[in-house]
Amino acid sequence: MTLILAHRGYSSLYPENTMLAFVEAEKVGADGLELDVQMTRDGELVVIHDEKVNRTTDGKGFVKDFTAQEIRKLDAGHQNKSLSKKEKIPLLKEVFEWLMGNSMVCNVEFKNGLFPYKGMEEKVIALVRHYQLESRIIFSSFNHYSVVHTTSLAPEIETAPLLAEGLYMPWIYAKSIRSSGFHPHYRAAPDQIIKQAIDSGIAVRPYTVNKETEMERLIKVGCSAMITDDPLKGVQIRLEI
Ligand code: G3P
Ligand code: CA
Repeated sequence: MTLILAHRGYSSLYPENTMLAFVEAEKVGADGLELDVQMTRDGELVVIHDEKVNRTTDGKGFVKDFTAQEIRKLDAGHQNKSLSKKEKIPLLKEVFEWLMGNSMVCNVEFKNGLFPYKGMEEKVIALVRHYQLESRIIFSSFNHYSVVHTTSLAPEIETAPLLAEGLYMPWIYAKSIRSSGFHPHYRAAPDQIIKQAIDSGIAVRPYTVNKETEMERLIKVGCSAMITDDPLKGVQIRLEI
């Protein structure tokens, strides 16, 4: 079955990468989440997509220049005028705590492309182990050094390189770096690539799939999962097929 992973939570309707978006994704039947992790000045793991807080919060500046206490004062839901209360930038440990109460899988994307965030992988792995979530976590990154590093530190946790462009035989590449899957842009995931990868035991989880026709295609071809802003649409289409 193709799993439906809510990209930054139920981000088509709720503020991305917030507890509200994660809770709402679970309510509509998403099998899992995709979220982005960065690190504060004092080493706290926080869930936010951009290196800067400017786009998604009412603050300004780089995540790496805030302390955890400072960044938690920002409102990550300020653009959604219908919300009656502030949405804090979640701490990764807060999300993991919440995951203890359900059975969702969680794709943690390391956002360590622009800044190296020294020791981030080690911290995230320690947190996964603390909450004993090893079997429900998938690590991914566009930074393939980080993917390789994570796989060597925690071989018990699934990893997947993110691929923005098409790659010749991406399943061979994933195997060569000891990853159990890869996460391509959906346009870089034609049916033949998906089929061959799955046949050779490598998971394929394309992003960010919001068009109905693409959802149908990926489900019919037997994709392992799809990462979507609209988990409700994904769940409904999967039911109809
Ligand atoms: O993990 C898939 C997707 O989230 C990668 O792109 O920019 O949305 O983090 P981005
Ligand atoms: Ca992401």
